[in-house]
Amino acid sequence: MTDATEASRPGEPRRAFPDSFLFGAATAAFQIEGAAFEGGRTASIWDAFCRVPGAVVNGDTGDVACDHYHRMPEDVALMRELGLQTYRFSTSWSRVRPDGGPVNPEGIDFYSRLVDELLGTGIKPWLTLYHWDLPQSLEEQGGWTNRDTASRFRDYALSVHDALGDRVEVWTTLNEPWCSSFLSYTAGAHAPGRFSKADGLRAAHHLMLGHGLAVEALRERDASLDLGITLNLTVAKPVDPERPGDLDAARRIDAGFNRVFLDPILRGEYPADFLTDLAEIELGHVLEEAVQDGDLRTISAPIDTLGVNYYHGELLSDRPAEHPLLAQAPTARETRSPFPNGDGVFWHPQGLPLTAMEWEVQPAGLTELLTRVHREYTGERGIRLYVTENGAAYDDVVEADGGVPDVERAEFLELHLDAILDAIDEGTPVHGYFYWSLLDNFEWAWGYEKRFGIVRVDYGTQERTVKQSGRTYQRVIRDRAL
Ligand code: NOJ
Repeated sequence: MTDATEASRPGEPRRAFPDSFLFGAATAAFQIEGAAFEGGRTASIWDAFCRVPGAVVNGDTGDVACDHYHRMPEDVALMRELGLQTYRFSTSWSRVRPDGGPVNPEGIDFYSRLVDELLGTGIKPWLTLYHWDLPQSLEEQGGWTNRDTASRFRDYALSVHDALGDRVEVWTTLNEPWCSSFLSYTAGAHAPGRFSKADGLRAAHHLMLGHGLAVEALRERDASLDLGITLNLTVAKPVDPERPGDLDAARRIDAGFNRVFLDPILRGEYPADFLTDLAEIELGHVLEEAVQDGDLRTISAPIDTLGVNYYHGELLSDRPAEHPLLAQAPTARETRSPFPNGDGVFWHPQGLPLTAMEWEVQPAGLTELLTRVHREYTGERGIRLYVTENGAAYDDVVEADGGVPDVERAEFLELHLDAILDAIDEGTPVHGYFYWSLLDNFEWAWGYEKRFGIVRVDYGTQERTVKQSGRTYQRVIRDRAL
């Protein structure tokens, strides 16, 4: 394990990061906090979904998770030990405004203490307002398919700002709205587990509207805030670039994954080809009805920062793959395709190494993605680009001395940091990187079975152990070089 604290490639030239590049790690409230019904917190859609038979592997819940709610100072001390410069966390709407109702002082106090603890150790807080845990009582009023949820989100954002606005500069409205719309309302794979293409589209629009309303309101409060959103984006490639069917499959996934969010938020319009796809399957009316005058202006309110979450790319065709990737849902419960325009599209393996999620390890995709987003969206608008998530699950082995030699994760981390340096060298400014995740935690429908942490969590004792990958990251941050 000592090797990991030395220079990674002795004798080879080191690649340095720009002086202002920020190194961080990310988590999310539901995935780590636990204390699900303490301190005035009420149920979120994930508390409810965890209780749907077969929805989450092993029937795991967020009731205890990493018990971060009770161990926060210890976890911040770990961040300090690792040398993190910034920490990306989310606030729980159900803790701050239980049932979407009035502010709960005890709930907001937890985040206020967290922010103080971070600032006290010199770590920059990076706050995400919504990482998928809608109060269940709002879901009972239609959830994100109800337009009113967007205004409720703006009000919740202002409540958090009332308490923390004096100390937190960076505000991310939403994390990965693709997941909280299409994966949740169309595929049924995430809470609230609905199976409707129309509902996924309505949810996506209302999430973006909530983002825009929050940006406008926060900007009015304080023009100096750093405001942004985090999107999960991909590189969608055709199996055969000469085959029209494959090209169209790649186009559809690019539209239904990337551009359906990038275009409204950064250009103030839905992608024309995506609207044509919807019209072809007689779903054109859904967005026509949902989009009201002024919505796209609000949705495209100027932002300062775009967070990109990248895990893997996709290779696509209209012909079935012999060995399809991701064919298996985590549990026996039914899930469907999240892509309203994706019927007839098939995912093909690229022959790359796989993580425990069966996601292909494709660092070059990150270089390509960042370069494209800068060229087509953020560069000319002066929006700063950050990688707000990237990481890998592996089946870690704990050695007799308690050490976790997760060599594959350490390598994954270095390969993706190297890919960011490639993008920077090619002229795409990237301002920071957050490894997902600081801790092993509740991996949504996979429960605690999949571990992404650079710090191991023993769920029996809640003991934390820095893995070899954590030591690798510590060394990179210390040296500011690979
Ligand atoms: C994206 C999500 O934001 C995070 O919550 C999740 O755990 C990771 N990806 C890994 O799947």
